[in-house]
Amino acid sequence: MPSTAPIKPWDVHRLPLATGTNILVTGGNAGIGYFVAEQLAGAGATVVLGSRDTAKAETAAVSIRSRVPGAQVRWVRLDLADLFSLKASAEALHLDRLDAVVLNAGVMLDHPPRRETHDSHELMFATNHLGHFALTRQLAPLLAAAPAARIVTTGSFAAKSERLDLDDLQSTRDYQPKRTYARSKLAQMLFGLELDRRLRAAGSTALSVVTHPGGALDSLTPSRPPVHVRTTGDRLRGLPAGLLVQGKEAAAWPAVRAVLDPAVAGGQLWAPRVFGLRGLPRPAPLWDHLTDTAVAARLWDASCELTGVDPSVGL
Ligand SMILES: NC(=O)c1ccc[n+]([C@@H]2O[C@H](COP(=O)([O-])OP(=O)(O)OC[C@H]3O[C@@H](n4cnc5c(N)ncnc54)[C@H](OP(=O)(O)O)[C@@H]3O)[C@@H](O)[C@H]2O)c1
Repeated sequence: MPSTAPIKPWDVHRLPLATGTNILVTGGNAGIGYFVAEQLAGAGATVVLGSRDTAKAETAAVSIRSRVPGAQVRWVRLDLADLFSLKASAEALHLDRLDAVVLNAGVMLDHPPRRETHDSHELMFATNHLGHFALTRQLAPLLAAAPAARIVTTGSFAAKSERLDLDDLQSTRDYQPKRTYARSKLAQMLFGLELDRRLRAAGSTALSVVTHPGGALDSLTPSRPPVHVRTTGDRLRGLPAGLLVQGKEAAAWPAVRAVLDPAVAGGQLWAPRVFGLRGLPRPAPLWDHLTDTAVAARLWDASCELTGVDPSVGL
């Protein structure tokens, strides 16, 4: 019989218990990913920080343990720009089950020149999209072993006004860093939605959810020394921006909710409430171009080819 108990509103400061679950947060050593990890650890989850810098990862883990009594947190070496290394990163998790992965790590270059990874892929597209695409495939057996795993992909508001160039995914022509970044985030969002369609078609119990954090500035972010230090000067300078955007602690809320809230459904977009830029997390309507299933399917095929990943979802 359906419960008649009223549904409690989501409280970002009183999260449901996640004890006994294993969650990987890519880029969990800094920025929004750090706060996603801290909040999930606070809910009792065992959190693994995926980080390319082991010293930063250890510092972040120590910080979380100092703030969350009894936190279960550790790290694994993860470099999304090195496709070949991802299998070893997945193995190094030493888990028999992964309940969620937050695909959060990201790189944004402000200036030319165009840069490439060792695999000869454009750096932002490779790190933000191809790395996470290939990592998800490596994690598939662990995700499939969880009763209802969640794959949470971090997009960006910047992708709202951008379109993919399927004939030049690697920005070899007319390279503009901001556009290439926004396209890489759009590719991630299209991937997250296409993944959910494929999971449904395969009869999987796993869900793929897309989030974006709004606008998040370090100057609005509470200190977590030595991971992040905000001076009084930073704080004062950041005050006017606080009318429009938020700190990274609040920017973590959509991803945390996408992992923990039983009401979240696959194929949804979760984002901050106020103009999509700041505030409490809520489901947002999908932007028109995110619903283009033909583009998403072509991107999936191209991503398989570029990464050497088998086209099946594997979970
Ligand atoms: N901040 C915003 O306003 C905003 C807006 C929209 C979307 N986003 C998205 O939100 C996510 C987090 O942003 P943020 O502001 O927290 O960024 P951030 O402070 O620069 O942190 C980025 C994280 O990604 C990691 N990373 C970068 N390249 C990597 C690689 N090759 N392998 C593994 N990890 C790598 C970084 O590791 P290192 O510490 O080693 O560099 C760091 O942990 C990103 O996906 C970003 O695109 C942010």
